[in-house]
Amino acid sequence: MLLMAAKSWLTHPAALMLLLMNWMECTLCSGFTVDPPADIVISDPGHLGYLDITWSLPTSLTDKTECPKLYQLEYFDTYRDRWNAVRTPQRTYSAQFDLTKDVRVRVYTLLNGPCTNGTLTRSTNYTELVQKPPSTGVADTAVKDFVCVYHNMKYIECTWGRSPKTPAYSQHNLYFWHMELEKTEECPKYLVLSGVRSGCNFTGTYLPDFTDIIFCVNGSSPEGPLEPAFISLQIQDHVKPEPTEKLYLQTGSDRKLELRWDPPAGRVPGPCLEWQMEQDGKIAPKIITGQTLPLTHDEKISCFRVRSRLNKYCAEKSLWSEWSRPMCHPEEKEVTPDPGSDMVPVYVYVAVAVIATLVLSLCVGAMLRLRAPKQEKEPDSLLTTLFAQNPLPTAGGGLRR
Ligand SMILES: *[C@@H]1O[C@H](CO)[C@@H](O)[C@H](O)[C@H]1NC(C)=O
Ligand SMILES: *[C@@H]1O[C@H](CO)[C@@H](O)[C@H](O)[C@H]1NC(C)=O
Ligand SMILES: *[C@@H]1O[C@H](CO)[C@@H](O)[C@H](O)[C@H]1NC(C)=O
Ligand SMILES: *[C@@H]1O[C@H](CO)[C@@H](O)[C@H](O)[C@H]1NC(C)=O
Repeated sequence: MLLMAAKSWLTHPAALMLLLMNWMECTLCSGFTVDPPADIVISDPGHLGYLDITWSLPTSLTDKTECPKLYQLEYFDTYRDRWNAVRTPQRTYSAQFDLTKDVRVRVYTLLNGPCTNGTLTRSTNYTELVQKPPSTGVADTAVKDFVCVYHNMKYIECTWGRSPKTPAYSQHNLYFWHMELEKTEECPKYLVLSGVRSGCNFTGTYLPDFTDIIFCVNGSSPEGPLEPAFISLQIQDHVKPEPTEKLYLQTGSDRKLELRWDPPAGRVPGPCLEWQMEQDGKIAPKIITGQTLPLTHDEKISCFRVRSRLNKYCAEKSLWSEWSRPMCHPEEKEVTPDPGSDMVPVYVYVAVAVIATLVLSLCVGAMLRLRAPKQEKEPDSLLTTLFAQNPLPTAGGGLRR
């Protein structure tokens, strides 16, 4: 068991790498001491947190030009919540930071060549810089629920929610930046909801995929600047495919009936999609990779609809499309209607009959009342009419005689 545990630990690539690095440095560092860099300077070129980090050679190494030097930079990636490490012979490096959080950077020196008898030796300590975020504006006013949707890989829209603490008459601004831009740009077209900016419409603006895009939503208010929010994302992870147009039935190779649908038109590659099927309001747990589904034949009517998203081979994550229009099988006209649907007309007929009777009796009542002065005569005349129409056999017989 111990062997198994050790094996699984060793097969973890990162662990193995660390072990190898430490072994190389520890077994070969034969008593030479190396100083960490003298100082670290961080500068902000205005790229929404893509900061330039520079450091200088320790004074003890300035005259050792014959010895190659390497630096190990470690920084806390605030967007991914983990430490990153890189080794570089340069004395500068740029990395992305969330400017609303602490910027933490550590640099080690590594020395090689005749100075260390040909062995790569790392400084035992590092030089560290922790930079606090600048003052951040009116408290608790940062936007929330920032969401970007890449609609059918055609156009991108990002939206946000206002914090309840946002003062009245505030105005939000969105800025964005990525590696291909010289400087930050502002939202090309704001989405406005009940008079306030609630999002940005990037239609017609190029945003590269597989590249971190940094968004900053800040703003101004009568009480001062609003707290900014920084968001980093890659647009291919925010695709929302269009719903499929139509589902249809076809006979499969085994002469069995199957449900079939087409991928949505547009730039989303068909093989990238995976599907989910809903039958009579219940979502089937199995993810469908193709675009056909065999149907089991039974008498009962069933309605199906499908939706899609990008699979894990094409994007780290994806949004579900809206559901397609439902397709019922067997088609509704072939099926005896639900007895429940017959009940409604019966009730309607009864209601109509009752109302008609009421109206009729009211009319008759009103007519009778209008003729009230002739009331005394009325029974007579009515009776006479009745008798005239249906003469009593005896009386009639008497009259005829
Ligand atoms: C330098 O390395 C050589 C050969 O690897 C070894 O003989 C020598 O003792 C080393 N010198 C020091 C100061 O470690
Ligand atoms: C290592 O460096 C850090 C900051 O540069 C310092 O605070 C710490 O005391 C040092 N540790 C040692 C063992 O020298
Ligand atoms: C986004 O902008 C495009 C072009 O300006 C426009 O056609 C589209 O309707 C806009 N979308 C929204 C939700 O306003
Ligand atoms: C918002 O951020 C942009 C880009 O960093 C900056 O130019 C602008 O001055 C900021 N606006 C406010 C109100 O803080």
